Amino acid sequence: MNYIFANWKMYLNFDETMILTNRLLDESFSENVSIGLFPNTLAVSEVEKALRDTSFSLGAQTVNWIPKGAYTGETSALFFKNINCDYALVGHSERRYIFGETNDDIRKKLEACLDIGLAPVLCIGETKEDHSEGKVKYRLKKQLMKAMDGLDIGDNDFFIAYEPVWAVGTGVPCMPVDVDDVHGWVAQEIKQYTDKKIPILYGGSVNVDNVVSYVSLDTVSGVLVGGATTKMRTFLPLIRAVESI
Ligand code: PGA
Repeated sequence: MNYIFANWKMYLNFDETMILTNRLLDESFSENVSIGLFPNTLAVSEVEKALRDTSFSLGAQTVNWIPKGAYTGETSALFFKNINCDYALVGHSERRYIFGETNDDIRKKLEACLDIGLAPVLCIGETKEDHSEGKVKYRLKKQLMKAMDGLDIGDNDFFIAYEPVWAVGTGVPCMPVDVDDVHGWVAQEIKQYTDKKIPILYGGSVNVDNVVSYVSLDTVSGVLVGGATTKMRTFLPLIRAVESI
């Protein structure tokens, strides 16, 4: 089983989101892929209605850890759970590096999601600077430790997405050989935090031409994809490529 998680970020407005969702629903997909859609918050509730009784899963792009209260502009993990979301991205690099999310914030979000049964997709990844200074595993180790040390995952599903910051939205993907190395290392590293088998997804400039080189690796359980999932003409062939392996 390969996961294909589509992070639509702020690329699609409400109408565009519903058009793409409905076009996907016109297709049928093999059971060897599990497709998760992460629409803009504005559209999540409507997408949820469209996806009912289908095999698609639904996720939030970001959540607040506080259940409810005087927090203008925020949307809580609980609110997403209330409308039947399955997943939440936590610690996406655009949240960390554009909106200043810290490892402490990420930890609180993970705890909030796990408390209410929303499966987190913990995003980790090194910056370009870390990469050129040979600090990839140093950075990932720290992010994993802050996120997962002492964390009670319970019976919840939990995902990790390895997304090198320099590869996200840049058209410069990480080489499969390097993804394989990092994923193998992450799988070992998290054994100190959990006995569970955690699916580890790759993300960062994944497209129809390179997706098979990632999902065919034993260390990779799927992909988290932004740009290439925002148009039917690039998303559908990507899904078909994953189905074919
Ligand atoms: P990208 O984004 O596929 O556009 O590089 C990946 C992501 O942000 O999850």
